[in-house]
Amino acid sequence: MARWSLWRSRVTVSLPWRGELTTGVRGGSSMPVVRQVDSHSSTVRPFNEIPGLWKNGVANLYNFWKLDGFKNLHRIMLQNFNTFGPIYREKVGYYESVNIINPEDAAILFQAEGHHPKRLKVEAWTSYRDFRNLKYGVLLKNGEDWRSNRVILNKEVISPKMLENFVPLLDEVGQDFVARVHKKIKRTGQNKWTTDLSQELFKYALESVSSVLYGERLGLMLDYIDPEAQHFIDCITMVFKTTSPMLYIPPALLRRIGAKVWRDHVQAWDGIFTQADRCIHNIYRQLRQEDSTSKKYPGVLASLLMLDKLSIEDIKASITELMAGGVDTTSITLLWTLYELARHPSLQEELRAEVTAARAESQGDLLDMLKRIPLRFNDTLFILLSEFAL
Ligand code: HEM
Repeated sequence: MARWSLWRSRVTVSLPWRGELTTGVRGGSSMPVVRQVDSHSSTVRPFNEIPGLWKNGVANLYNFWKLDGFKNLHRIMLQNFNTFGPIYREKVGYYESVNIINPEDAAILFQAEGHHPKRLKVEAWTSYRDFRNLKYGVLLKNGEDWRSNRVILNKEVISPKMLENFVPLLDEVGQDFVARVHKKIKRTGQNKWTTDLSQELFKYALESVSSVLYGERLGLMLDYIDPEAQHFIDCITMVFKTTSPMLYIPPALLRRIGAKVWRDHVQAWDGIFTQADRCIHNIYRQLRQEDSTSKKYPGVLASLLMLDKLSIEDIKASITELMAGGVDTTSITLLWTLYELARHPSLQEELRAEVTAARAESQGDLLDMLKRIPLRFNDTLFILLSEFAL
């Protein structure tokens, strides 16, 4: 089940119809005119000429529900692309979007975004923050507020320099995951293990991202999972599950009628923020106890707290979004990668050869090894794949 990435893939962009481009197309109909910039024509055409089903959101929501859309979104989108072409507009319930499929169109969009890209508004998530009077993180912020937070996070999260801090943590989790797989295979006594890998990879991704963000292991690679950690997983799963319907039905309405989906959503986010509070509390306790010259990397959360450039509320908001954003994206991509590798043994061999060669050349230095691998993966993905390959 694609939780986060299911709707994330709907990040909506309007291209190659150029105009006031935004990634969050809500309110897109206010864009009066867009220019088509395909190779054949540069005529200016109205936004309303984008093909698709956007005239009756309620009827579309009914059809979406009839097609079991929450489970079949990817199929429905593919069918729409086949019907309307590589750019189509739709309105399902109150959710209005323009969808693109060609990478070239995505590239044009990202180039046109400027310094303050308009983000997709995840109404369910912003409603929760407003409800609890909590701050938005980078995923939900816009404009200069987004940019100033993002610049600080860039240094702490995605700068290549940080890799050397993250890799040992990710490596440890990757090794544990592979050891767990081997143990499971051994236990069956049949030299194989049949399971729903999506759950395993979900736990793996969550363990990895938590380790990097909070500097602590949740223990999800063990057979016995601590009830507190299990509650945290359940909360994350629940956030994704309850987000899907609220993309199409306004959370404000669901809140007003006291709908279960809204109550569950609030309860799940409460659980996640409680965990963040607990981690912050632990980090402060450790900082008081530890020798300040300690060389050990304490995780993104502790680094941000020590850096003291963002408010605690801003840090907490972005950390929870980083955590939510780092789980499904990674686990589902990994699931598909493993599936495709299983279907293409020659590719598997190629990958194994590349990893083995890089390992030999780097003499076991993982950071050096990463630099030598010609394939481009996100690091969590790569580390696990390389551990599988060896
Ligand atoms: C294969 C893995 C991943 C995929 C496919 C993916 C995809 C995306 C996409 C499409 C966006 C929206 C970009 C935009 O609106 O301009 C995004 C943003 C984001 N992702 Fe990822 N992501 C992945 C991994 C991760 C990981 C591992 C984390 C956290 C550790 C993460 C955290 C975030 C956050 C916080 C944002 C919002 C950033 C901002 O608005 O400034 N993602 N991701």
